[in-house]
Amino acid sequence: MRKPNIAVLGATGVVGREILKILVENEVQYNEIKFLASVKSAGKKITFKGEEHTIIEATPQAFEGVNIVLASAGGSTSLALAPEAVKRGCVYIDNSSAYRMEKDVPLVIAGVNDDDLKNHKGIVANPNCSTSQLMLVLKPLHDYAKIKRMIVSTYQAVSGAGLAAINELKENTIAQNEGKDFENVKFKKPIAYNVIPQIDVFCDNGYTKEEMKVTNETKKILHLDADTPISCTAVRVPVFHGHSEAVTIEFEKELTPEKAREILENAWGVEVMDDIDNYIYPTPRDAAGKNPVYVGRIRKNIAFDNAIDLWCVADNIRIGAALNTVRLAESVIRMGLF
Ligand SMILES: NC(=O)c1ccc[n+]([C@@H]2O[C@H](COP(=O)([O-])OP(=O)(O)OC[C@H]3O[C@@H](n4cnc5c(N)ncnc54)[C@H](OP(=O)(O)O)[C@@H]3O)[C@@H](O)[C@H]2O)c1
Repeated sequence: MRKPNIAVLGATGVVGREILKILVENEVQYNEIKFLASVKSAGKKITFKGEEHTIIEATPQAFEGVNIVLASAGGSTSLALAPEAVKRGCVYIDNSSAYRMEKDVPLVIAGVNDDDLKNHKGIVANPNCSTSQLMLVLKPLHDYAKIKRMIVSTYQAVSGAGLAAINELKENTIAQNEGKDFENVKFKKPIAYNVIPQIDVFCDNGYTKEEMKVTNETKKILHLDADTPISCTAVRVPVFHGHSEAVTIEFEKELTPEKAREILENAWGVEVMDDIDNYIYPTPRDAAGKNPVYVGRIRKNIAFDNAIDLWCVADNIRIGAALNTVRLAESVIRMGLF
């Protein structure tokens, strides 16, 4: 197998740092590696595999000689730099939402729709974190019983909004405990001891962009009909790591909770934690730092026909971003697509 030259763009960020960890864990084989970030970090040192490396400013020229870019540096950075990287022959795996719904850009969860990678034209998009964890759960159920409609409510950790958001939860909590005033910057409302029913900006239809990402990205990844009814409410909760989701799925054909449990017990990347008699169900603390998507509370939904409810939890920075990015790079290498 040909070994690529890789670049980690956004290497100093929450997602970028996790990408570096997973490159080591997964023993990804490469020739050379570059660490790219903004001008602010250029020249600073980063330690990787026990050695110090210099961070390079992400300019178009920085992509010369690179085969695969693992990018997590925000949408505007990707809009500016992805075309430059592609022009220089790179496969650009993007964590931002900038290109996800573009027709020519495959939106892929490794293990779910890898074949879509074959159609890439340089840019490959990593789905939104809430969508990502859900896909590994939905795909095997959809293969069995075909999704008819779905309602999702998310309970999302602050790490999904980057380092500044993690710090805001820490500082807001300390200020609250000490009875001091606190000015929230990253979130529209105080995040300590609170939940906020807004992630990203509002769209004309009253949903947030985050909620519409879950709806639209799910349809693209699972190749569902454009008019499949999917509705999402996305909520930020004062949790550092791990997104949780309460999901109601109605199917075309009957799917009992027992069958759903059996399917998910055999599904790749999924772990069932479902024994209510013994209080076994996943929480964000169970998922933090781990790779699987954990599923519990699988039960028959009593409001719709042929519907089940379930609760799924995953480390948003892992499966929701860094782990899938690295897995996509591995698929690109294995399938010889660079
Ligand atoms: N797929 C997903 O589910 C998912 C999940 C979480 C995050 N994300 C996405 O991943 C991206 C990063 O998120 P994060 O949480 O890691 O954010 P973060 O902690 O704020 O880190 C941002 C990174 O981007 C770099 N950067 C910012 N502006 C840049 C520029 N103009 N040129 C080059 N590098 C630049 C920063 O470098 P400096 O340190 O030099 O500023 C830093 O390395 C965002 O697009 C976010 O939406 C995706």
